[in-house]
Amino acid sequence: MKITLSVIKADVGSIGGHTKPTDKMINAVKKRVTAAIKKGLLIDGMVTHTGDDICIIMSHKKGSDHPAVHTFAWDAFIAATELADQCGCYGAGQDLLVDAPSGNVRGAGPGVAEITFDFKRKKPRPAESFLVFAADKCGPGAYNLPLLLAFADPMYCAGLMLPKMIKGFRFEIIDMNNTKGGDHIITLDAPEHLYEIAMLLRDGERFGIKAIYSREYKEQAASLSTDRLHSIAGKYTGKDDPVALIRTQGFFPAPEELISPFAKVPYVGGGARGSHNMPLMPVPINTAVTGLYCLPIVSCLGFSLAPSGRFSEYHTDFFDNPAGELVRLKAQEKALAIRSQGWYGNAMLPYDELEYSGFKDTMNKLLKKFKVVKRK
Ligand code: 13P
Ligand code: MG
Ligand code: MG
Repeated sequence: MKITLSVIKADVGSIGGHTKPTDKMINAVKKRVTAAIKKGLLIDGMVTHTGDDICIIMSHKKGSDHPAVHTFAWDAFIAATELADQCGCYGAGQDLLVDAPSGNVRGAGPGVAEITFDFKRKKPRPAESFLVFAADKCGPGAYNLPLLLAFADPMYCAGLMLPKMIKGFRFEIIDMNNTKGGDHIITLDAPEHLYEIAMLLRDGERFGIKAIYSREYKEQAASLSTDRLHSIAGKYTGKDDPVALIRTQGFFPAPEELISPFAKVPYVGGGARGSHNMPLMPVPINTAVTGLYCLPIVSCLGFSLAPSGRFSEYHTDFFDNPAGELVRLKAQEKALAIRSQGWYGNAMLPYDELEYSGFKDTMNKLLKKFKVVKRK
């Protein structure tokens, strides 16, 4: 049978700053998911949060980009927004950037990652397992480095040397600065075009992995949200905070191969006011963003798909592990190092990125005060 996994997330308000949603908001979304399962819209669903972003993970038979599923998620976020507003939460409805989307929340603010595939439970995929990554306080390219390493570098994924994966993976990369006429996408194969892929992915504010496919089996391995909220809103409204849905095992990398590059805690665009370069710290699910310097965080849940298409009964929290403590310490050290130079140089994002925020107004006022002094 054809099955679709849909991951849709949005920040619709948080308590005491950009930290986490309230329990009431989460419970309201959960209640709607339960009702949607009862009604037959969804096979299964689970609601989590990573920092202040609420993430709805769903399985269903409607296919990707289905208006009923997208409208369901939108309405659930609207219900949570009303509760956020009642509590005086910060940024109530923050990521709901249009009045009412026309049946698809892509481009309306929420982040979407979806894969539709044939769920055969037969060789070469007798079992179906998948990971859901959710990142908060991050630019849209936060997964560029870890996923390139997992899908194209045998130093991180020894599985690439197996016959099932040795042909490599196909990367669909989106130019997020160009939205004219639709999505601007380039398709490049690894390993042959690894250097070209790296050339693009080094700039995570502009280029992002949108999807990854197995070249041998032509099956989709990964789907990522790649929205630039400031491109939709025309100004800074909050950070993009991308989600990634990744099928694992068999002819795809194993979870351990996918999560090991996150031990690098790479600097990504994000942090306070979405305007800094800060290390990406792996955290357990349902972690609030607190701490001393608004660290970008990423969570990772692993699931198995039951024959019925249900998945929520059991999960594995991959970043809730004692080994994570060492990695988190490394992230804190890298954060302290870069925070020690405050606003200076690479600690903050380049002006192009700050252009959408209030920093632009301060800059424009100053630029007007410059006077031309003729050289003698
Ligand atoms: P969020 O995008 O997670 O709401 O964070 C925005 C921000 O400006 C944090 O300082
Ligand atoms: Mg927020
Ligand atoms: Mg957020």
